[in-house]
Amino acid sequence: MEIRVAKSAGFCWGVKRAVNIAVDAVSKDGKVYCLGELIHNKREIERLKKLGIVFIEDIDVLKKGNTVIIRSHGVSPKVIEFLKRKGLQIVDATCPFVKDVHEKVMKLEKEGYPVLILGNPKHPEVIGIAGHVKSPMIMNTIEEIEKLPKLSKLGVVCQTTLNMDFFREAVFRLALKVKELKVYNTICSATSIRQSEAKKLALQVDVMLIVGGRNSSNTTKLYQISKSVNSKSYHIESKEEIDYSWFENAQIIGITAGASTPQWVIEEVVNYVRLLDKGGELSGRGVCQTIRKEFQTSK
Ligand code: F3S
Repeated sequence: MEIRVAKSAGFCWGVKRAVNIAVDAVSKDGKVYCLGELIHNKREIERLKKLGIVFIEDIDVLKKGNTVIIRSHGVSPKVIEFLKRKGLQIVDATCPFVKDVHEKVMKLEKEGYPVLILGNPKHPEVIGIAGHVKSPMIMNTIEEIEKLPKLSKLGVVCQTTLNMDFFREAVFRLALKVKELKVYNTICSATSIRQSEAKKLALQVDVMLIVGGRNSSNTTKLYQISKSVNSKSYHIESKEEIDYSWFENAQIIGITAGASTPQWVIEEVVNYVRLLDKGGELSGRGVCQTIRKEFQTSK
């Protein structure tokens, strides 16, 4: 069995940077707070908790002088003002690519364009972007775009992890409705590279494993893209979820991972698949299952 791992699998530059900033801050202060999970990966979050990073959802628990990390998704100016008023030390790990989207929506508003953000309205990055302008529209489906009335002007940006095919389709439909359309493609290159590699790899292999948190928007998109071209695509958070039966008659296994999946989680999956394969080559499926069980209990 051959295992092919996508070159781009794992942490993107912005997530790597945010994790480094957070680890640096905790090594200086001993205890720091982070607004929401730093990245959408439970296992990496557990590791960071052990270092002294406290993840909170409620700003009210913070006290004057505490250090608080803004994660790579960014926040609205209102949140920053509130934290400053509370006398907190702010460590800003917002990804510079997300900051660029903040600037673009403000520019569009200044130029008089009603602003449309393409993306998931519940995602923290989109909430943060929306908080930079007065009354943005947020749309996540073609149906919503179809319901828009004819407009004279519209400015568009998108969530950095948006699916490129959806973006193309959305802009095409908008162009038929809006007289003066100004579009910024704010899909981050890390996202588009991961998406196109996932598609390419999924077309070459028998089985695709997409590794990453179920709450990770970019991992879920990689899974959807892979599944659309290869029905034997599986979204897993860790090696424990792998089912041996997925690999029946498979010659080539493809593995990719979202931008918030640490390298060590990917390596665990790769080594585990290798181990399963070794067992299969030695004595058939029965031995494979035993090895798999041992592997799990020894964790
Ligand atoms: Fe930044 Fe792009 Fe990663 S926006 S956090 S480098 S996916």
